[in-house]
Amino acid sequence: MSRKFAAITGVQGYVPDYVMTNKELETMVDTSDEWIRTRTGIETRHILKGEGLGTSDMMVEAVKGLLEKTNTRPEEVDMVIGATITGDMPFPDTANIVCDKIGIKNAFSYDINAACSGFLFALTTGAKFVESGSHKKVIVMGGDKMSSIIDYTDRTTCVIFGDGCGAVMLEPSEEHGVMDSIHHSDGSGRHYLNLKAGGSTKPITHEALDNRENFVYQNGRPVFKAAVSGMSDVVKTIMENNDLSKDDIAWLVPHQANMRIIETVSRMADFPMERVMININRYGNTTAGTLPLCLWDYEDQLKKGDNIILTAFGGGFTWGAIWIKWAY
Ligand code: UT7
Repeated sequence: MSRKFAAITGVQGYVPDYVMTNKELETMVDTSDEWIRTRTGIETRHILKGEGLGTSDMMVEAVKGLLEKTNTRPEEVDMVIGATITGDMPFPDTANIVCDKIGIKNAFSYDINAACSGFLFALTTGAKFVESGSHKKVIVMGGDKMSSIIDYTDRTTCVIFGDGCGAVMLEPSEEHGVMDSIHHSDGSGRHYLNLKAGGSTKPITHEALDNRENFVYQNGRPVFKAAVSGMSDVVKTIMENNDLSKDDIAWLVPHQANMRIIETVSRMADFPMERVMININRYGNTTAGTLPLCLWDYEDQLKKGDNIILTAFGGGFTWGAIWIKWAY
């Protein structure tokens, strides 16, 4: 029996209208446009403004566009996975809320929390359901409203993150789709990148709020080092395991956390920058949103049969790489 693949048959992104510039951040914390550009590569990021709006509202926009693009009626969708660390609320899952808002009634849906690797982990998970033959139209979403968990008095984190999301449709294919994947996690990384309050070990209390523990904490340097070695290792490994040379790969799609990380990973993987997808300058780090937003931005340049390697590294630590053959 021939192998069945899970092909991406459409991609759609969404970023909110409001653009926060480095200049605006200069008025909020002790930073400079120059520092942010040279240390991170970020020029602007989009921020979701508006009372009561959450990650589901961005995902709804992306999924509506995706359904239109792929000529899919909501009732045809049979599974929806959402990758996010900024769900609308601790429960129910944001994927459930997205389905309700759109009228996707015949799907089962849930969220995956793997921080910046969330889309990667969710894509592999969704692909397995399609490959098994049990599900035919699976939507995988990745995105975050990072502005809801960022401390805008902490210059080490607030300049980096932005809000945004993307979604892909997965459908069965004989030859295109997810070809191989590698995933890792190492919980000892939790000490370097975390959000301390609001979980079961430290529910939100006045004390936690006073200590600003309801916001992202990051010790940037060790995360930087681990991100570079983690992503370059998995990119090299997935290429070696599948006898792929750099000439076989049309695009490398790295998580957009820091332009210096992206450049170092492509150098270590011996991959030319002209074929590396980059949009960190416009969106900053949208956590689970970066990879689908890259695919969305570069969709016009992709060709059927292109080999693409996605890679990400994030909180957990979590990291991995996926090799896909583009289907359209
Ligand atoms: O997506 C999830 C995974 N996350 C990542 O991959 C992020 C990995 N880490 C990074 O991208 C970088 O470590 C950061 C962008 C977070 C920080 O850049 P860095 O070059 O590693 O800076 P640093 O933390 O070593 O700090 C260097 C200096 C410090 O000042 P002193 O101690 O040398 O006086 C910081 O206080 O830069 C200072 N600094 C800033 N200065 C102006 C830190 N943030 C800022 C800022 N503006 N926004």
